[in-house]
Amino acid sequence: MNGAGKDGEAAGSHPANVVLVGLPGAGKGTQAAQFARRHRVPKISTGDILRDAVARATPLGREVAATLQAGGLVPDDVIVRVVEERLAHPDTARGFVLDGFPRTVPQAVALDALLGGRPVAVIYLEISPDVILQRLLTRRTCESCGQADTGAHTSEYCASCGGSFVKRADDHIDVVRLRIAAYVENTQPLVDWYSQRPAFRTVNANQPLIDVARAFDAAVRECLGSS
Ligand code: AP5
Repeated sequence: MNGAGKDGEAAGSHPANVVLVGLPGAGKGTQAAQFARRHRVPKISTGDILRDAVARATPLGREVAATLQAGGLVPDDVIVRVVEERLAHPDTARGFVLDGFPRTVPQAVALDALLGGRPVAVIYLEISPDVILQRLLTRRTCESCGQADTGAHTSEYCASCGGSFVKRADDHIDVVRLRIAAYVENTQPLVDWYSQRPAFRTVNANQPLIDVARAFDAAVRECLGSS
């Protein structure tokens, strides 16, 4: 395991229940995918679930399509229902990593109720705002599995699933600005709220991927040891 702890080690004897919070482009999806592989827990990305629903034009997809396109937030009750259904799957028994949920205080309160006192590590990926635009405006995302290209644009196809890389519909400058504004209004207060907890850590997301991954694993171990 490349310097980021052995499989399952992050959580010691606890299931590795992890929440990742951070600005758009902070690296939540990238780190969540790598953590999930290392620790064999599911990555639960609300953005991926919503984009998949939009692509398949399900009732949920039709309900949220305009909100995603506009860079706003889906209503709390809608997204909490989505997460409640996903957390009920048996694959979450050993833990999970949540990417993009919660992102409001009411969503976090709902998550606490769903977890019923089970420990959760909250990791805040802190990034300089000037890095974000460059990351998001050049990002390519796999249209099949939703993972971002971390291979410096050396291939047309995703190394994980073979899908084609595309530009995400909300990775355009005007929408990115609205997503950042939604974060400042709704999610920064959530970070402040979570920061009062012992199982909260901040990780510097301006570093190279491998260094963020190492810091992320160490932070989860500390959190779950302290909860
Ligand atoms: P979502 O998909 O969650 O988007 P987001 O929060 O805006 O985050 P991103 O996916 O854009 O960025 P990321 O932090 O995952 O960065 P990534 O790893 O890709 O949500 C989309 C929409 O769905 C929302 O706008 C909203 O409408 C709705 N929604 C979702 N959840 C919701 C909720 N809970 N409530 C209400 N609405 C909700 O990395 C970005 C790029 O940087 C990549 O190219 C990557 O390769 C690169 N990179 C990453 N780390 C590094 C590094 N260390 N060094 C260099 N490059 C790096």
